[in-house]
Amino acid sequence: MCGIVGYIGDRDCADVLVDALSKLEYRGYDSAGIAVFDKGTIKVEKCKGRLINLVNKMELEGKPNGHCGIGHTRWATHGEPSDINSHPHGNKRVSIVHNGIIENYKQIKDFLIGEGYSFVSETDTETVAKLLDYYYVDDPIDTIIKVISEIKGSYALGIMFRDYPDRIFAVRKESPLIVGVGENENFLASDVPAIIKYTRDYYLLEADEIAVVKKDGVSIYNTHKEPVKKEINTADWDVDAAEKGGYEHFMLKEIYEQPSAVRDTISHRITDGMPDFSNDGIDMEQLKKYRQIFIVGCGTAMHAGMVGQYVIEKLARIPVIVDIASEFRYRDPLITDKDLLIVISQSGETADTLAVLRLAKEVNAATMAIVNVVGSSIAREADMVVYTHAGPEISVASTKAYMVQISVMYLLAFELAYLNGAISEEMCRKLTEELKSMPDIIKETLELKDTCSYVASKLMNAESLLYIGRGLDYALSMEGSLKLKEISYIHSESYAAGELKHGTISLITDGMPVIAVATQKKLIEKTISNIKEVKARGARVVLICADGVEVGEDVADYIIRLPQVDEQLMPMVAAAPLQLIAYYTSVLKGNDVDKPRNLAKSVTVE
Ligand code: M6R
Repeated sequence: MCGIVGYIGDRDCADVLVDALSKLEYRGYDSAGIAVFDKGTIKVEKCKGRLINLVNKMELEGKPNGHCGIGHTRWATHGEPSDINSHPHGNKRVSIVHNGIIENYKQIKDFLIGEGYSFVSETDTETVAKLLDYYYVDDPIDTIIKVISEIKGSYALGIMFRDYPDRIFAVRKESPLIVGVGENENFLASDVPAIIKYTRDYYLLEADEIAVVKKDGVSIYNTHKEPVKKEINTADWDVDAAEKGGYEHFMLKEIYEQPSAVRDTISHRITDGMPDFSNDGIDMEQLKKYRQIFIVGCGTAMHAGMVGQYVIEKLARIPVIVDIASEFRYRDPLITDKDLLIVISQSGETADTLAVLRLAKEVNAATMAIVNVVGSSIAREADMVVYTHAGPEISVASTKAYMVQISVMYLLAFELAYLNGAISEEMCRKLTEELKSMPDIIKETLELKDTCSYVASKLMNAESLLYIGRGLDYALSMEGSLKLKEISYIHSESYAAGELKHGTISLITDGMPVIAVATQKKLIEKTISNIKEVKARGARVVLICADGVEVGEDVADYIIRLPQVDEQLMPMVAAAPLQLIAYYTSVLKGNDVDKPRNLAKSVTVE
């Protein structure tokens, strides 16, 4: 949420900041701004709306001219999107950009008003800028240390002091921030895609480490003002990974990257045909001993957890509780040191998921993180980390991250099941072999794109629709429905098919679309009965089922047939068509697919 960048070097700073921000717009896109040292003063340009509005504004009015500055793209928390509420905030002496939430901003603001300060915006950020100004005498590091000792909440801050035009300062807690290290130029960024064009090397800042970023070097201090020595990290993907590469949208590109993402994620975790997490440093013998497993995440990541729950319980016979992070953390959960918590997160920065991880650590539960972003907070804090290898996911709607998350869930389930004696070695090998073939199968399902686009054309004018399924198909329907509503803005719900007649079926009206997912042989008859019930009440049904399943052609108005694999693995087969249906519906409606309204990619606030 919110993207931060900073630059110091020989290039035109405004150009670099805008370019870097364009790679972070997925983090927030309701306003944008930059501050640049221009002839000894801090010159600020900012405005409401997408980054392009700022670019147009600067084209008309002239851009700040200099080589050192900070920039921001906003996802509003305090105060509506407006020119005034846009970052940077501050005054002539101090200018800042901020990602996070300052929880005690009201007290600080009241205090500063008492000290004679006035405020122009509704943001919490402006209080930090003014507090920096209040404490600033001549030493920025002392000032930052003082301010972070007083503010509460989450923050990643890029800071400029007028008296130090040859450097920018940075500090973070809870919200992510990296310092990019180039040749005679250095950077600040919320995420690697912003700087990958310029450098692959970066420092990860730990909580409350203060970075002083100059053209020819970066110094990092702790809160005692002692220098901190840090390892440089190197991103292992290149510029192309963060570009659209000829696709119209990142979402489509990412859907098409799923076969390779799955291959990259599972191939080095299979040895001699068996799952193998030893390279992740995971002791599976220990893992199977836990009393129960909790799987927690938000949104799509939680839906991947639902698939995990089904397959771990079914195959390994270990009880699994899956929950939404924002609920789990506040319900005094019955998790103990005898349990294992698995958190799932693409970004590794989701505030609620991170809070759950910390809560589990407090009670000494074992913690495992399934994370995509290397070095993210969740990855750093979990006892065990299983990195997914999806590469950068830029589109707000998560697709390839889901696919790799469930591929890890499968491998874990297979190994746990085998170690528990719940399945034979032969069965474990067979399932693992089938999982290995999934990249090719997913590729095959992508050939259904025209079918999905046709279905989308039939859905695009609907006001509301339902996704139904049972078992694994229900878990999958949850994800299909989220994908559709998030980018098409069509109201949709996912229901366990058998639950419909307990209330929800009253919503069915003539012509209402229902997407029925029925890939599980044992349950197909039951789901077909539910389809008949909704059809009898006027629903137009799209049935998604496996090839070879015998269903009368008149069961549904439209049938999408998928390659048949072991039915445990069918979510990996059915996910891409569901994503494509959502994608084409959004495109046909003329929506901004990659940046749907009101959303942001990485939800670093509660
Ligand atoms: O980065 P995370 O995986 O922790 O993010 C969790 C959710 O915010 C995320 O999956 C969200 O639901 C997606 N926008 C859905 O497409």
